[in-house]
Amino acid sequence: MQNFVFHNPTKILFGKGTISGIGPETTVFSNKVLLVSGSGSIKKNGLHRQVTESLQNAGADIIEHPGVQSNPLLSHVRAGIKLARTHHCQVVCAVGGGSVIDEAKAICAGALVDHDVWDFFTGHKSISSALPLTTVLTLAASGSEMNCGMVITNVETSQKFGFADKFLFPRTSILDPEATFSVPADYTAYGAVDAIAHILEFYFTTADPSTPVQDRLMEGLIINAMESCDRVLADLHDYQGRADLMWTATLALNGLTGAGLGRTGFPMHMIEHSLSALYNVPHGAGLSAIIPGWMRHQSVITPGRFAQFAERVFDCRDGSVEERARMGITSLLNWFEKVHSPTSLQALHIPCQDIPRIAENALALAKVWSMSDYDIGRIQAILADC
Ligand code: NZQ
Ligand code: ZN
Repeated sequence: MQNFVFHNPTKILFGKGTISGIGPETTVFSNKVLLVSGSGSIKKNGLHRQVTESLQNAGADIIEHPGVQSNPLLSHVRAGIKLARTHHCQVVCAVGGGSVIDEAKAICAGALVDHDVWDFFTGHKSISSALPLTTVLTLAASGSEMNCGMVITNVETSQKFGFADKFLFPRTSILDPEATFSVPADYTAYGAVDAIAHILEFYFTTADPSTPVQDRLMEGLIINAMESCDRVLADLHDYQGRADLMWTATLALNGLTGAGLGRTGFPMHMIEHSLSALYNVPHGAGLSAIIPGWMRHQSVITPGRFAQFAERVFDCRDGSVEERARMGITSLLNWFEKVHSPTSLQALHIPCQDIPRIAENALALAKVWSMSDYDIGRIQAILADC
């Protein structure tokens, strides 16, 4: 167990009927509200009406910034910053999935500085304050509703970079599982894959040889992510399944699983962000194509860790350490295929000859994330295996 500081300031309102709380939770900061939303799902499923009614009843003067697209774009962030400054918005409310929440975080930070918001992502500037943010989560996946990370794509440089800072935690996030009833089967599965990937990144990159508390928490969350996703794919309106998946995805990346693990990395995400940047692949779909290849590569380095994963998550008890390690990877890949999440670059229709270009792109993020143990050769080898 390594030393750690765990401080997550986000207040969570969880459950049926909690959306009516977004008005008071937001106007407590100001009634000049920038409402950030996606490309239309909240209009179709009635959430837009519920949220705007709650905000207006709480006295909010709403400025709308709709149109956030999946894998959110720097150009749209800049437009949101301009809108927030023109109308002197003092609080931002995000209603959507990780893309909407991440864009809202970038607006919260960018609205208070004179330099370009992208300077935060390249490490040229740090954040010293941000507008307060409240969220209504509509898709269980990224964990952005309860963490201080954000990921934005710069189309001009074909870079999709992530950045985290303590000023980016939402003040309050509302998690009503019924808000996710309208998420289709494919994005439900991609979200579960993303949550599992968040856990695997910590589980397999910690150097600490003895982390039983975190291991069993992470192993349990992975099992919950698969079981609740299976339930929801059997019935998209299964409240219990949607509730379990939603809370599992939030817990998968709110700081709890990594506390005490010491230094960890995000190699699968470092590579996947290039797939999303270059091919606009849904984040979870990109991850399920990368994870098996990365795991096969990494299991040669730490076979014992992979054998423990295989035993505790998939009950693989027979064979040597190497055999159990391989069985665990195959079991996870089989589950990805069962939920129809792609498990190779071919399945994403990404040609092998693109591998050098993808690896170059990923190396740029590896440098920003100080992942010096990843050079171009290692990234290319992993991609070739995918
Ligand atoms: O734009 P709308 O109309 O909302 O449609 C979205 C989008 O097309 C749709 N959707 C969302 N909620 C829905 C719904 N459709 C029907 N009913 C609902 N209730 O689903 C599509 C995907 O939405 P998106 O927000 O892009 O998905 P997700 O939540 O997986 O977020 C992906 C983004 O999160 C970033 C990823 O890089 C990606 O840009 N991540 C953020 C992280 C963080 N902040 O910590 C960490 C993650 O690893 C991840 O990188
Ligand atoms: Zn992710």
